[in-house]
Amino acid sequence: METLMLSRSEEDISAAGKILRNGGLAAIPTETVYGLAANALDGEAVAKIFKAKGRPQDNPLIVHISRLEQMNSLVSEVPDAALTLAAEFWPGPLTMVLPKADIVPEEVTCGLDSVGIRMPSHETARAVIEAAGVPLAAPSANLSGKPSPTTAQHVADDMNGRIDAIIDGGKCDVGVESTVVSLCGERPLLLRPGAVTPEMIAEAVGCCDVSHAVLEELGEQEKAESPGMKYKHYAPETEVIIVKGSFENYMRYCRENAQEDDWSLCFNGEGDILAMPHVEYGAEDDLLSQARGLFDALRWFDEMGAKRAFARCCEPSGVGLAVYNRLLRAAGFRVIEV
Ligand code: TXA
Ligand code: MG
Repeated sequence: METLMLSRSEEDISAAGKILRNGGLAAIPTETVYGLAANALDGEAVAKIFKAKGRPQDNPLIVHISRLEQMNSLVSEVPDAALTLAAEFWPGPLTMVLPKADIVPEEVTCGLDSVGIRMPSHETARAVIEAAGVPLAAPSANLSGKPSPTTAQHVADDMNGRIDAIIDGGKCDVGVESTVVSLCGERPLLLRPGAVTPEMIAEAVGCCDVSHAVLEELGEQEKAESPGMKYKHYAPETEVIIVKGSFENYMRYCRENAQEDDWSLCFNGEGDILAMPHVEYGAEDDLLSQARGLFDALRWFDEMGAKRAFARCCEPSGVGLAVYNRLLRAAGFRVIEV
């Protein structure tokens, strides 16, 4: 299949809308990461997403909407908390898991009785949903197991020849995937951290629990609240190791342990002080900049053929919880305290 490269022009957005309406696949920019979209109400179209990504069959997809009314037809119940969170954070990087309506095909939810819904803030994403005239199911547009794509080039690297079209909307602003919060239980439960922090959710609706799977590896037999959490995710070929501690101790660790083809994944300004190849992924005091740079840095290591990458890391709170969660998975939970 030939993959069309589209722009953000009105004409191209309407072409993407048509592809999607006809059961095809189009990669679209969002403020978090690029998504691989299909008509969420067409089970056959949605099944193609799993094939194109090589995605495990039990990992459900998020449904993207452009207008609040669309949520009503997709869920069987709208708790007050959902309306409050929608008013506060939509459009934006927040996915709410709610009891699903029958209209949502099994292919989207993988047999669960809940569905994740998000209204992206990216203008192009919402314009494509409008052009398609249907809600769009969209996981991140990477091959399963690869870091999520934050540029159209990343998408093309993984998906060229596998999907109908890619819309180039430039570099994603947030850089890590949306916050996923379940509103199916008594209290809101954060399943995946993102730019909307648990503190922000608690501020809006009174409380927000955080799934232990955010910072801990799931046990062999444990059932994941969010199926995506159980897969080795965001994994580059390079072996990533988190080296946690002061920069001074980090430097000493690198000096004593680095071998040929080992790289440093460090904060802005630190690279020149280290006598080894390095990628700077953001400013130490700016968590959003780290979120924006992380996945690009992880893909870069593979391109460079890096053997190992020693990673500097932030504190796991606020937006740092999202950055640390992704880094931890990229590292397969390997952390060395120095
Ligand atoms: O920012 C994002 O959310 C991006 C853009 C494209 O919108 N999408 C994205 O989708 O990251 P994906 O498929 O890569 O991740 C969806 C996550 C998975 O961890 C999945 O298990 C979880 O959301 N999820 C989806 N539906 C769920 C449900 N009904 N219950 C629990 N978890 C769910
Ligand atoms: Mg993903």
